[in-house]
Amino acid sequence: MSEFIEQYGPWAMIAGGAQGIGEAYTRHLAAKGLNVVVLDISEDALESFQPTIEREYGVECLPVQVDLARTDLLDVVTGAVADREIGLLVYNAGLADVGPFYKADTGLEYEQMKIAINVTGPLVLSYHYAKPMLARRAGGIILMSSGAGLQGSPYYAHYSATKAYDITLAEALWGEFKPYNVDVLACVAGMTLSTAAKGYQHLDTSTFQTTTELVEEAMAALGKTCTLMAGEFNRKNLETTKALPREKLIEIMSRHAIDNFLGGKAPPQNL
Ligand SMILES: NC(=O)c1ccc[n+]([C@@H]2O[C@H](COP(=O)([O-])OP(=O)(O)OC[C@H]3O[C@@H](n4cnc5c(N)ncnc54)[C@H](OP(=O)(O)O)[C@@H]3O)[C@@H](O)[C@H]2O)c1
Repeated sequence: MSEFIEQYGPWAMIAGGAQGIGEAYTRHLAAKGLNVVVLDISEDALESFQPTIEREYGVECLPVQVDLARTDLLDVVTGAVADREIGLLVYNAGLADVGPFYKADTGLEYEQMKIAINVTGPLVLSYHYAKPMLARRAGGIILMSSGAGLQGSPYYAHYSATKAYDITLAEALWGEFKPYNVDVLACVAGMTLSTAAKGYQHLDTSTFQTTTELVEEAMAALGKTCTLMAGEFNRKNLETTKALPREKLIEIMSRHAIDNFLGGKAPPQNL
């Protein structure tokens, strides 16, 4: 058995694993010989996924159609997974939007769904699946986050707050789980050509990462570092801006949202 499978096998679970960055994780891990539990909301994407993954990589694939926002998420997932041993958890899915804090077409319920998917989901699945990893003294967890979570990011306000949670939880667990040989990584993505790229068509995407590039970096970083700022371009950006005052960083994020997604003008709050 390979060292990789001993550390992260026999099963990996990828939450939001049937498309985009999640699909790239699933394929990467299956190619390394892990069986994969793929949680995803998209029935269409999951439909042909199992036979494709099993045929292409010769591993087992368990597709689980589930909305990660469900309050009974853990019951649904553990019911489907049964006694399969999860050695690696990748929490990939995230609910994101851009606009003023008070939006015209969504309300508090939508913001609470962001908490369910971006905060409660990673907490619940990490809490459940890390325990047996710690007992076995082997395993790994990757929580996907975003550059928006590195500081308050106007017009991504609540998304950025949930993504800060993912970074800090992963970093803290990295510290706590290290003596148990369980690797944890906060993966801070920049703009990536994933399913989200549907909203990127008007942008110059030359500096964006592909999903495969991002996943290769994340998997190379797992076990070596606590936090990955993914993408050379994003790392350089971070390097040049890190000495700036906090207010300036927040302003830069504000401009990012306004220039890329809000037509160049700060939108009013919908009161
Ligand atoms: N893409 C970027 O530019 C970018 C930048 C920074 C950070 N990130 C982070 O990277 C992660 C991946 O984001 P992404 O937008 O690129 O997605 P993705 O990896 O392209 O796709 C995620 C998969 O999860 C599914 N999913 C979404 N909501 C779900 C739910 N409630 N329950 C179950 N499955 C669900 C999606 O299905 P549907 O498509 O049918 O909803 C999709 O199949 C997120 O945590 C995000 O914050 C992405």
